[in-house]
Amino acid sequence: MEITYNVKPAAERRTEPFCPTGNVGFGVTRTDHMFVMDYYDGQWRDPRIVPYGPFELMPGTMSLHYGQSIFEGAKAFMHDDGEIYTFRIDQNAKRMNRSGEIVCIPHLPEEMQVEAIQALIDVDRLWFPRQSGACLYIRPFIFATEDRLSVSPSSRYTFCVMLSPSGVYYKDGFDKAIRLLITTQYHRAVSGGTGASKAAGNYAASLRAAKAAAEMGAAQVLYLDANNRQIEEVGAMNHFHVLKDGTVIIPKFTDTILKSITSLSIMELSSMLGCEVRQETVMLDQFIADIEAGEIVEAGGFGTAAVVSPVGSYVFEDGRTVTVGDGEVGPHVRRIYQLFTDIQYGRVPGPAGWLMPVPHRFG
Ligand code: PLP
Ligand code: COI
Repeated sequence: MEITYNVKPAAERRTEPFCPTGNVGFGVTRTDHMFVMDYYDGQWRDPRIVPYGPFELMPGTMSLHYGQSIFEGAKAFMHDDGEIYTFRIDQNAKRMNRSGEIVCIPHLPEEMQVEAIQALIDVDRLWFPRQSGACLYIRPFIFATEDRLSVSPSSRYTFCVMLSPSGVYYKDGFDKAIRLLITTQYHRAVSGGTGASKAAGNYAASLRAAKAAAEMGAAQVLYLDANNRQIEEVGAMNHFHVLKDGTVIIPKFTDTILKSITSLSIMELSSMLGCEVRQETVMLDQFIADIEAGEIVEAGGFGTAAVVSPVGSYVFEDGRTVTVGDGEVGPHVRRIYQLFTDIQYGRVPGPAGWLMPVPHRFG
C-alpha cells in the first residue's frame, strides 16, 4: 500500500516525548495525526496520513442516519528497549471484517489495516505517554459516507485510524472491584442481530442501561440473553468468573456476544496461568446460587480498554445485591491481570506473534 504522508510542519508537531503529569485518562487525548482511506467505485483508495482534524460530511451522510459504522479497539505498549509494540492488531483487523460482514461494509484487507496502524503510530511515536501503566489506545473505524437517504448499504466509506494516549480505564484503578447491574429490563443483543459485531449502534443501545446502572451505583451493565436466563457479557467487556479450584469460566461465544481478543488471549494463556480457562453456557440462577454457596470465588471482565477488571458485586433492578467472595480483588484475578500485562509490556515472553514492533520508517 502506497501511503501519502501529509504531516504537520515540524514546528507544529510534537518534538519531545509526551510526559503527562496527572493520569492521562482513557480516550480523551489525541495525537497529531490520523490515517484515512476512502472506498468508492468498489475499491479502497488514497491511503494517507494527515493532521488529526474534522471530516467534511454532507448532512445526508448515511452513517449519521442509519448507523452503518463499525470500530475496533486495540493497544500498543512501550517496552524497556524504548520501542513501541502493537498487541494482536491482526486479530482486530480480522474482527473488523467480521463486523463489516454483519452490517454490510466492504472487506478491508487485514494487511492494509495493520500497515495503516503501524504507519500512524510511527509518525506519532513521540505521543506515547511516558507514564507507568499507560499505553497508546488505537481506534480504527469505518463509516458509510454516501449522501443518500434510502436504507441500503452505502456505496462509499471512510476508514480512519486515530490514536489516544491513555492511562487506566477505571477511575478507581485495579485495586477496587466494581459493581455490575444485572438487568432484566434492557438487552444489548438478540440472536440474529448485531451483538457479535463492534457496530456503533450496539453502543448507542447500551447507553440507557448504563444510565440505569449509574443510578444503582454500578459501574457497568451485565447483560442477559433476551429470555433473561443466561449471562452474556458486559457493555464493553466479556464477563468471567472463577471457581473455587481456580478454573476460569467465560460464557460461550454466541451471535449475541463479542468475541473478545482479551478472552481468547486468556484462554491461550491457561497453561502459563496454571489453571483451566473454559467457556460454558452460564445460567443466571445457577451463577447466583454458586456465588452464594461460595463455589464461585471471584469474577471480572476481559477487554482491551478494561484489561482484566475485577467485579466485586452485582445489583439487580429491585436493589438486591450479591457479593462475590469478600467483594475485594481476589488472587486469581490479580494473577491473570499480572501475567497478561507482563506480556503486553514485554516483561514476560508471551506467545509468538502477539507483539509486533512498530518499524521506524518515517522521518
Ligand atoms: N465486549 C464488548 C461489547 C466490547 O465492546 C469489548 C471491547 O472491545 C469486549 C467485549 C472486549 O473485547 P476485546 O478484548 O477484543 O477488546
Ligand atoms: C475496547 O475495549 O477497545 C472497546 O472498544 C471498548 C470501548 C467501547 C470503550
